[in-house]
Amino acid sequence: MSESTRKTGTGLLGWTCVPHALVLYLSILCVLFNSCDTVDRSKFRTCEQSGFCKRQRAVKEGYSKYKVDLSSGQVSSSSDKVTFSVVNPDGGHKFVLDVIAYDGVFRVKMNEESPLLPRYEVEHALLPDLKTTPMQVSKGSDSWTLTIGKDDAIAQVFGDPLRIDFFSQRKKVAVFNGRSTLKFEHLRQKPDVNDEPKEGEDSENQVQEPSMWEESFGGNTDSKPRGPESIAADIDFPLTQSLYGLPEHADTLMLKDTTNSDPVRLYNLDVFEYELDNVMALYGAIPYVIAHSPESTVGVLWLNAAETWIDVGVSKGGLVDSIVNLVGGSEENKEGRTRWMSESGIIDTFFFMGPTPADVIRQYGKLTGTTPLPQMWSIGSHQCRWNYNDEDDLLTVDANFDKYDIPYDSIWLDIEYTDGKKYFTWDHHKFPHPVEMIQNISSKGRKLVTILDPHIKRESGYFLHEDATNQDLYVKDKNGKIYEGWCWPGSSSYLDFFDPKVRQYWASLFALDKFPSTLDTYIWNDMNEPSVFNGPEVTMPKDMMHYGNWEHRDVHNLYGLMHIMSTYEGLIQRSENRLRPFILTRSHYVGAQRYAAVWTGDNKADWGHLRASIPMCLSLSISGMSHCGADIGGFFHNPDAELVLRWYQTAAFQPFMRNHAHIETKRREPWLFGDQITALIRSAVQKRYALLPYWYTLFYENEKTGMPPMRPLWLQYPNDINTFPIQDQHMIGDGLLVHPVTDQGATNVQVYLPKGNWYDFYSHKKYEGGTHTLNVGEDSIPVFQRGGSIIPTKQRIRRSAFLMRRDPYTLYVALDENGEASGSLYSDDNESFEYREGHYVLNSIKFKNGRLSSKVVNPNSPFRTPEWVERIVIVGLNKKPSSIEARSKSVGQTSLEFEGDYPIVIRKPGVLITEDWEIEIA
Ligand code: GLC
Repeated sequence: MSESTRKTGTGLLGWTCVPHALVLYLSILCVLFNSCDTVDRSKFRTCEQSGFCKRQRAVKEGYSKYKVDLSSGQVSSSSDKVTFSVVNPDGGHKFVLDVIAYDGVFRVKMNEESPLLPRYEVEHALLPDLKTTPMQVSKGSDSWTLTIGKDDAIAQVFGDPLRIDFFSQRKKVAVFNGRSTLKFEHLRQKPDVNDEPKEGEDSENQVQEPSMWEESFGGNTDSKPRGPESIAADIDFPLTQSLYGLPEHADTLMLKDTTNSDPVRLYNLDVFEYELDNVMALYGAIPYVIAHSPESTVGVLWLNAAETWIDVGVSKGGLVDSIVNLVGGSEENKEGRTRWMSESGIIDTFFFMGPTPADVIRQYGKLTGTTPLPQMWSIGSHQCRWNYNDEDDLLTVDANFDKYDIPYDSIWLDIEYTDGKKYFTWDHHKFPHPVEMIQNISSKGRKLVTILDPHIKRESGYFLHEDATNQDLYVKDKNGKIYEGWCWPGSSSYLDFFDPKVRQYWASLFALDKFPSTLDTYIWNDMNEPSVFNGPEVTMPKDMMHYGNWEHRDVHNLYGLMHIMSTYEGLIQRSENRLRPFILTRSHYVGAQRYAAVWTGDNKADWGHLRASIPMCLSLSISGMSHCGADIGGFFHNPDAELVLRWYQTAAFQPFMRNHAHIETKRREPWLFGDQITALIRSAVQKRYALLPYWYTLFYENEKTGMPPMRPLWLQYPNDINTFPIQDQHMIGDGLLVHPVTDQGATNVQVYLPKGNWYDFYSHKKYEGGTHTLNVGEDSIPVFQRGGSIIPTKQRIRRSAFLMRRDPYTLYVALDENGEASGSLYSDDNESFEYREGHYVLNSIKFKNGRLSSKVVNPNSPFRTPEWVERIVIVGLNKKPSSIEARSKSVGQTSLEFEGDYPIVIRKPGVLITEDWEIEIA
């Protein structure tokens, strides 16, 4: 089914729901008149149209009177947890409040003391077996003070009303319920319409709104058998209005004020033709905010998987004023505010106490996991299209990459490769020899990536549908009947990945004798919000039931995570735990970084979407999802040559690089825009491949520390307030700063360089910190190397990353004001988990006092590689050398040839990356 038939819904015509006739009619009109360029807002709720959001948003400051009974405070035997009893004096309902400590992190949990039914607590998002930390507890009359470390991180719990102040290095950085807007709707019996309010019952329970026990939207009725159970609380940041995070939205990197708009919405949805500059929900939900100021940085995670809306208050003077205040040292208008509202579950919040942005990133990574080092090929360039039609088509495209001399590492098959959208099958007419086809491309070191969605075609005889029906693997409706929805295959049911048995079943399907493929086949998991074309808001109704007797309402935002977890397990089992899996996912939640890369979904071939790819991936990167990219060229519509070229140049410097397009677009392989554009795209892709060693080293560090390879400038320059709003340029690691050209017809760009020395990475021209206007031509990609950094590259560009794996390195050394520089270089077998057993080599490289030296950080590693250093390029030396000499075990002591005085290029040092070496410049 094509996207336009999806839009016009021709597949749905047999389907009886009357209100949809109007929607179908309007959709047909929009296709006929080509006027459906924007999202159909009527399909998606506003806060006002969502019962719980409306109720919660009406809460006024000072509303809540929740009281902590400090005398009830109980400290656990290892002092890692303090538990209090909390009461809502209005009605007397009781709650339990836990404060738990991890290294540099406070967790605040609040649940009903004895709920009528269990309330959902998020599973699988956090790492298992988290290590807690003891706290020092000091008990006062109106508050308890809980301290982690010396006095690095403090939580002060006030009793009446409930409030928690968080201090990092004695500065108050966050406040929980400081505005007393906490509202916890406790579970209750459904009242009879004729019931009189009971005596002593809380006032909230006496209010009966129609949306509390049943709610309709867009022709669907949500039965809400459990009634109202939403939760909300305010969390404010006294030091700053510079708030970031809450992906996924096609919006600015820095969060905007929502006082006069809808709150930011987190509810994983398949939004057709999504709009820019908008806080409407998209495919992923990461309820995580980083509040950053030069004084201190703090992160907050609201661990809840139900539909969530967040109000952001940064309006008091707005960003410009807050920066002016910062500069002027004014205390006014600094506070950033948030208020979090979720439909069900419990309050479970984490405060990552910093104090630096890098600390917050590390603390978040220790709790939710980091991106495991990807296989080298997966950070190369990828070629996708909905669809490559048949084997011939695919192999021709593959051969053309060689013909046009453009490196790439994988080709992708979208849904049409299957037999009638039945996943784990092949269309045997179009793809009669899948294994041979894959072997053909993998002989050049390339991979195939095939799509596998979570909806299953309801067709008798289809093994997966038969198994799922017989073995009870599907999501059910509230009456216990298998849920049926509409997706690519037509009538479909949805695997219930929350059930361990389902995950195990799905994982078993990747065995090569079940899914004809090879170990060089990797996986794209799409439509996993889950997307249901005829469901409310294009997803599954909230009263469907999952394993464990949880409603879809409770777990919605986790569905995609459970899907990719199962796929990951399948790929692990398939290679007997040898090869690192690669999965691309559309839906994501906290922790998804442990399993998959992510892309920004169905964007558009326009300049705004090209620009949006930067803040979208930055926001995902700081929230853990560091292997991020956007469809090159834009998924919908046809980009012109200039846009395709600029998109390639931009994506070449983003973590995940893939060309992808809608089935109804024109072909857009890189050689189809004329010789000149082909040459320019080739050059951009070659620049990507030259930098693969740097990306790979950064991804290794990402796994270790959580620091994402693609970074907003403020992450690297936390004290430079000019960097706070920047989203048209970004860092790669701490060594490169990129300002892609993202405006049509641009002849110049304005680049902001933080204080220090900078060098154009390609021309080596020197720049000082400040704002520079640079002229740009069609071949320009402004990339700057920070003075003080060393960047490893490979300059012998081949057809795929695999073919470059043993090639020698060229090191780019850019000196700082003191004539110093440092960097790292990481290498391993590019594909297996052996690096986790020490089979890798890590070099720490330094330039100081005229000497460049490299040390193997792990000298006892059994990993062997012939990789060596073939060239060193140095900028920033203040005199021309008279002689250069290398020393190492393999080269002995030898004098080296060099040329140029700016930059200095040292030829063939010949030293190995598996040994220590020194190069003395006299
Ligand atoms: C969704 C995906 C898109 C894919 C299409 C067909 O729209 O976002 O990338 O091509 O489905 O599978």
